Amino acid sequence: MEIFKEISPLKAFLRDVRKAGKTIGLVPTMGALHRGHLSLISASKAANDVTVSTVFVNPTQFNNPADLLNYPRTLDKDTEMLKEVRCDVLFAPETNEIYPTTSTIKLDFGHLDKVMEGKFRPGHFSGVGLVVSKLFHIVEPDNAYFGQKDWQQFAVITRLVEELNFPLKLHSIPTLREPDGLALSSRNLRLSSSQRKLATVFYRALQFAQQALQQKGDIKRVKTQVAELVAREDGVKLEYFEIADSKNLNVLENVDKANQPILCIAGFVGEVRLIDNMFLYNTNE
Ligand code: PAJ
Repeated sequence: MEIFKEISPLKAFLRDVRKAGKTIGLVPTMGALHRGHLSLISASKAANDVTVSTVFVNPTQFNNPADLLNYPRTLDKDTEMLKEVRCDVLFAPETNEIYPTTSTIKLDFGHLDKVMEGKFRPGHFSGVGLVVSKLFHIVEPDNAYFGQKDWQQFAVITRLVEELNFPLKLHSIPTLREPDGLALSSRNLRLSSSQRKLATVFYRALQFAQQALQQKGDIKRVKTQVAELVAREDGVKLEYFEIADSKNLNVLENVDKANQPILCIAGFVGEVRLIDNMFLYNTNE
């Protein structure tokens, strides 16, 4: 595996890759890698000649300084994992390589960054859009891979690619889960063993809501039931549970299959913030 910390040698390497007529797949991450990230790498490897993974804890997308400080950093282990799955290139820059000066650009995605995550994490998607734009410019991939777990992020990046004419194709990869349903997340590392058991509450809430809504349950009532289900667990706090149109993220008042509704949930287990989602009509989940 080729490892780069700086932009210029990475660009030079990729120029040769492109000259040789090879395709490039990009998998951006913030590290603390788990099998979820690796499933993105294998999707990229299956469809591209060269897969570039990036590990960069992006400060501009953290609205909470404590969250940035506590974000797990495990670069040595990440490097080993990437080697094991035969990722071709790792780009792991320092902060000043990506942000040599304090960034002044702010991105506004309209409605897409005002709901759900956007409401609770102001500025978050501006930071995501900024760093992903930088990575797209640096790597110039043919394909880029993101997880369904961060669906709103995928919707925002889809918009970014459309509006800024990035010449690449985006792919959303299904959420990988633990056997008990907990979505794999770097933040799970911060859960104590008792919190780890409680953390399945969001998955259970999604499953419950999916079933209830498929059986023509009323959205308002299901929302109340989800809030009650989460409130029963000590040390767990619900931030939001919404049913949204998966394309434009409009919050839905009525269930209509045509909107391809997605159920989105977020909350805290102790100090650890977790998110999860599930398509209403995807029976694989
Ligand atoms: P990070 O949280 O490290 O996630 C990197 C990618 O892995 C994202 O596309 C995310 O959706 C995906 N992912 C996370 N958990 C997953 C799971 N359980 N199953 C499948 N895919 C999963 O998302 C970010 O980093 C950042 O915002 C980033 C896009 C890198 C920009 O800084």
